[in-house]
Amino acid sequence: MEGPAQDQPALAPEPPPPQPPLLSKNAQKRLLKQQRFEAKKAEKKAQVKEHKRREAERRRREWEETLEGAATEEERSRLVESRRELRRERMEKRSEERGQKLRRLEDARAGGQKVVIDLEFAHLMSANEINSLCQQIMYCYAMNGRYEYPCHLWLTGCGGEMGAQLRRIPGFDKWLVEKEDQSYIEALQDQKENLVYLTADSENMLDVLDQKKVYIIGGLVDRNRWKRLTMKKAEEQGIQTAKLPIGNYLKMSSSQVLTVNQVVEILLKFLETKDWKESFFHVIPQRKRCEADSIESRGEAEEEENVEDNQPEGNKECVEVLSPN
Ligand SMILES: C[S@@+](CC[C@H](N)C(=O)[O-])C[C@H]1O[C@@H](n2cnc3c(N)ncnc32)[C@H](O)[C@@H]1O
Repeated sequence: MEGPAQDQPALAPEPPPPQPPLLSKNAQKRLLKQQRFEAKKAEKKAQVKEHKRREAERRRREWEETLEGAATEEERSRLVESRRELRRERMEKRSEERGQKLRRLEDARAGGQKVVIDLEFAHLMSANEINSLCQQIMYCYAMNGRYEYPCHLWLTGCGGEMGAQLRRIPGFDKWLVEKEDQSYIEALQDQKENLVYLTADSENMLDVLDQKKVYIIGGLVDRNRWKRLTMKKAEEQGIQTAKLPIGNYLKMSSSQVLTVNQVVEILLKFLETKDWKESFFHVIPQRKRCEADSIESRGEAEEEENVEDNQPEGNKECVEVLSPN
């Protein structure tokens, strides 16, 4: 029988297993919030998937019933052929629309109004806020393609964490926008005198959009925690600033600080209509406008109120879920 080895030195006691680092109360709260956010997101994704599956199933059953209801084999073939034709038409329409959108975006790159989203603030945002910003940027890109006069969109300061998150968006590498790791101040140094930082803290009111200028939007989701941040940045860099002329047309129930996607869409709507009022009413949610303002303009706003309800899912999500201010 094999006994214990006599001459071998005793083994050193094993080191205790590493303890997870203790989190501060705030860090624990943040972690919990992040976990809840992730769980909610996963739940929502599963719901959407299930809804799509049920819809597909319902459509399939409907189609089978229609086929079963066909009185003759001839009628059945006619039904199948007309369905094929419908599908072909739908595909053609979609590909035509895609082509038109790409042409509009290419034209905008050649001569459209330059709009920069400044992405140099990732270090000031939580993971949730960065995620919200990515969704807002996705929405901006989708919106830009839908408008008749898209802007020439630049994403600057795309390196680091922000760039890593953006690259996770499916199809991001094919987006027809300028993606610059550099800051706008380097990437557009030859146009420094034309750079205008849009910031709600500016004293200058934007009157019209000047084709020569480059309008910069702070890529930030901060619930206005970082007060005057973009204003200070522009002052330090010695570039012009301007705010949207919201106060001339609307009374807001809270601050006039809007989200990135709202500002981009206001600019797009203005490029289309040359009308600030229409642009603000189209984009700023009813709940952010004052009661008095709504009553005053009720007559002409009825349609506009509906516009908000009719906005595509993406916008609703951005405005209601992601709106940080
Ligand atoms: C959520 S805000 C960020 C607020 C941030 N505390 C700051 O200092 O700008 C996102 C960006 O939208 C633009 N923005 C928001 N409201 C605006 C307004 N009323 N006029 C002009 N630009 C605005 C600004 O470029 C701003 O940086």
